[in-house]
Amino acid sequence: MKTRKQAIDELTLALMYLTRFNDGEGNPFNEMSWKNYDFDCIDRLDDEGYIVNPRKSRGTYKYVYLTEAGRTKARELLGEIDSKDYDLYERYSFRTIKPEETEEVAEIERICFPPNEACSRENMIERIKAAGDLFMVAIDKETGKIAGFLNGIATDEFCFRDEFFTDAGTHNPEGKNVMILGLDVLPEYRKQGLGRELVYNYCRREQERGRLRLVLTCHANKVKMYSKFGFLDRGESASEWGGEKWHEMDIILNHEIYFDEE
Ligand SMILES: CC(C)(COP(=O)(O)OP(=O)(O)OC[C@H]1O[C@@H](n2cnc3c(N)ncnc32)[C@H](O)[C@@H]1OP(=O)(O)O)[C@@H](O)C(=O)NCCC(=O)NCCS
Repeated sequence: MKTRKQAIDELTLALMYLTRFNDGEGNPFNEMSWKNYDFDCIDRLDDEGYIVNPRKSRGTYKYVYLTEAGRTKARELLGEIDSKDYDLYERYSFRTIKPEETEEVAEIERICFPPNEACSRENMIERIKAAGDLFMVAIDKETGKIAGFLNGIATDEFCFRDEFFTDAGTHNPEGKNVMILGLDVLPEYRKQGLGRELVYNYCRREQERGRLRLVLTCHANKVKMYSKFGFLDRGESASEWGGEKWHEMDIILNHEIYFDEE
């Protein structure tokens, strides 16, 4: 079974081989490859609906995005080379929490965070009552149990403050920004890409709902992880949650709305 990194390395190398060409520049090297991707291949993938090249009409290939069909197809391909995260969606489903799952997530929070950082059972109950539709869970399809979750509340406020953790009354369903209050994956389910998939699914859903930004706070040792997911480090947060220091990070979900606001 291959790790994600091994799969990236092997697939990139194979792609370089398949798209290599000679540049005729007389340098000591032969069989050059685009640092990026083969442009015809980008067009084909776009035509087949696996990716979107937003600048296709202008003939540029600066960046492309995977579509749902593209993600599904990519996982199929990863299955063929026996790469680790190909069957994530066969093993897990992602959906909004049900009220009867409140005790289960309160227990997961207790396992995942030290007492000074964990959301209390009482606050969790209030949060789910007030903002259940912003609480996404990953379900282990084999057991029907929750393997991890991501939750938050909505607000028009721009910056994070600690009352969001303790006062579910700060939730405004129409709020443009979502303050992320917890990403938890049970220890036995970690390092399989479940945290990443929760974040990506959450971003897609809130983008579709027209939200402007997601905002979170994290310790310095998680900045790199959230950067990989697309979040920007905005420096030290005003939060003093648990008597500790926090970084504030955010991700813009809808640029058009963002720049209208500015
Ligand atoms: C942090 C946590 C959610 C990660 O969940 P996970 O399912 O294991 O994460 P993934 O497998 O999707 O990993 C995604 C990336 O994050 C990074 N990452 C994972 N766990 C990490 C950790 N504890 N510290 C720093 N980076 C981490 C990995 O390097 C990985 O990137 P890579 O595959 O390119 O190497 C999980 O360890 C957890 O619940 N921890 C306790 C609670 C917590 O700290 N939550 C975050 C609060 S800000």
